[in-house]
Amino acid sequence: MATLTLSNSDRRIESPEAVAQFLEPFGIHYEHWPVEGRLSADATNDDILAEYAPEIEQLKQSGGYVTADVINVAPDTPGLDEMLAKFDKEHTHSEDEVRFTVEGRGVFWIHAPGSDQEEANTASVFSIEVEAGDLINVPAGTQHWFHLCDDRHIRCIRLFQDPAGWTPDYMEGGIATDHPPVCWGRSYLAGKTEVKPVVQL
Ligand SMILES: [Fe+2]
Repeated sequence: MATLTLSNSDRRIESPEAVAQFLEPFGIHYEHWPVEGRLSADATNDDILAEYAPEIEQLKQSGGYVTADVINVAPDTPGLDEMLAKFDKEHTHSEDEVRFTVEGRGVFWIHAPGSDQEEANTASVFSIEVEAGDLINVPAGTQHWFHLCDDRHIRCIRLFQDPAGWTPDYMEGGIATDHPPVCWGRSYLAGKTEVKPVVQL
């Protein structure tokens, strides 16, 4: 389940209902779907799309999405550092960024609309660490960035409104470097003997 952390405090939100409630005023939709027993350990990307076809169809109808695929990122993915360097700078998209996490984890950072650089240091920057079962929709125009945890693994269903796919518009003077890429989720920390920031990707 997702872990939401406010950057200006130690406040952390972990129940799915509370995470969804916090995100709603920002236009960000969050849901947690059951994943237990739905996929085998060796599921292919096609298996994932087939298993979640009903949910994907529902999202397509409600959000105007026209295509879905699966992105699978692992430590041995060719060009991983270059790929992650595209995500970890503050940017927007002209379409929604919709991700349903099937395996692994990662962190979306949100720089809330309407805030400026000064306000960003008070209450308008927060992170959502997602893991298996978490659906998040970051609406078009939302200033955000993304990083992995140090296990460098995530597998997600992506939905697109534009078949041309993922295009970032980077923010001049983006604030991503002001916020260390830390992972705080319970399942992530359960496997750790100490809490440490991940390497800046
Ligand atoms: Fe993005």
